[in-house]
Amino acid sequence: MENALSKKLYIKTYGCQMNVYDSGRMLDSLKPLGFELITPAIQACEQDETEQDKYLFSDADMVILNTCHIREKASEKVYAELGRIRMAKEARAKLGHEMIIAVAGCVGQAEGEEIFRRAPFVDIVVGPQSYQNLPKMIGEVRRKGKLVDLEFPEMSKFDALPDISESPISAFLSIQEGCDKFCTFCVVPYTRGAEYSRPVSDIYREALAYVAHGAKEITLLGQNVNAFHGEGPDGTIWDLGVLIRHIAKIEGLERIRYSTSHPRDMHDSLFAAHAEIDKLMPFVHLPVQSGSDTILKAMNRQHTAEFFLKHIERLRKDNPDIQFSSDFIVGFPGETEAHFEETMELIKTVGFAQAYSFKYSQRPGTPGAEMENQVPEDVKSNRLERMQQLLRQQQLAFNQASVGKTMPVLFFKKGKHPGQVIGKTPYLQSVHVKTDKEIMNRICEVELVSAGANSLEGKLVENIFTQI
Ligand code: 5AD
Ligand code: SF4
Repeated sequence: MENALSKKLYIKTYGCQMNVYDSGRMLDSLKPLGFELITPAIQACEQDETEQDKYLFSDADMVILNTCHIREKASEKVYAELGRIRMAKEARAKLGHEMIIAVAGCVGQAEGEEIFRRAPFVDIVVGPQSYQNLPKMIGEVRRKGKLVDLEFPEMSKFDALPDISESPISAFLSIQEGCDKFCTFCVVPYTRGAEYSRPVSDIYREALAYVAHGAKEITLLGQNVNAFHGEGPDGTIWDLGVLIRHIAKIEGLERIRYSTSHPRDMHDSLFAAHAEIDKLMPFVHLPVQSGSDTILKAMNRQHTAEFFLKHIERLRKDNPDIQFSSDFIVGFPGETEAHFEETMELIKTVGFAQAYSFKYSQRPGTPGAEMENQVPEDVKSNRLERMQQLLRQQQLAFNQASVGKTMPVLFFKKGKHPGQVIGKTPYLQSVHVKTDKEIMNRICEVELVSAGANSLEGKLVENIFTQI
């Protein structure tokens, strides 16, 4: 630890892509202190420990758990993980080495000081709006001991963070944070705070930096990203559609995505962007949560099933190739079999290329947790299983319908087998290709030759290098 040039940083990221972005920015802010990442890459993981984790923990001068509080016993899982890290910290201490442990993200925000009570070996607790203070906190921790920072500061964290210093081929860019929608099941308005949109010029500068460092795809992120209303360079307020149009002008950038949106915030300019901007990928993640108007009302979603279906229709009319993904919650308080069937009908009506489905989980502090008509666990499990079966069928059908087609695939990762490279289609399908050509970090035309529910096999079409 004394050698300021070689400090090892372990970051474990849970949950959504916003956390992936935040972890990247934490790394950027710690690099000037000499920290180097020892995890292979920053990506969201499952809550389970792996053998690799054990090894990496024991090597780390600093461990950051960037946590998620959205569902199921998130805090308990963090405490369990902290228990494992504690052993590594104690082992290092015996050898005279330091290990600073920080809990960041939404569990940090929700639990606060409680973390020190239950896990006294933790040094820093920092919320999602204050991690720009990490470098300063590390110095203070050494001088004064434990620190917690859960502020929602006046000055945006984005202004305090250093510039982008590297980029994967597919980069996440946070443009909006927080949420004012207050869906009755959701903790986000409490953990991430009120809605805030970054100014367009800052976003544009960051997008340029990512592309200059090799990004070909940028996903614009926000808890409620299509509620974006950032100050434009002309002093007026720009919405997401206008922002996308602007970013699409960046040369070298080939794909634009955005996530996650709310049906209430689909504005005309966003529909127009889908109709007119080729770089905007024809794949929309639009969470609906339920197909029952009664349940949507209890969830305070402020839209009906029909309202959602009209959006799908309109997007399909403008671009017949467009595909959809969504989020569903089963077993929200008061959900009957009939309400659940309405959701199943909606799924059949749309036909999703992919989707996420969850059992309702009572989040402390949210109105849903206080509702009396909670659905029994076994009923929730049964409905989830039926829903996932239907969604899996639809995903498989979509993948199978892609066989025989040629699509541009963005290659970003090595596969398990020699010569195998993994990429993503415009619809975020995983494609495995075997080749001896150098295609990593490129977009190549691929013929899709076979499909399973989770991935496809493809082969490079001739003359790939004329397509790149
Ligand atoms: N229980 C289950 N699922 C939830 N989600 C958010 N809060 C809860 C909860 N309390 C799901 C929603 C949301 C996704 C990110 O997580 O479907 O769209
Ligand atoms: Fe949570 Fe999304 Fe609802 Fe906001 S719109 S409260 S982030 S589910």
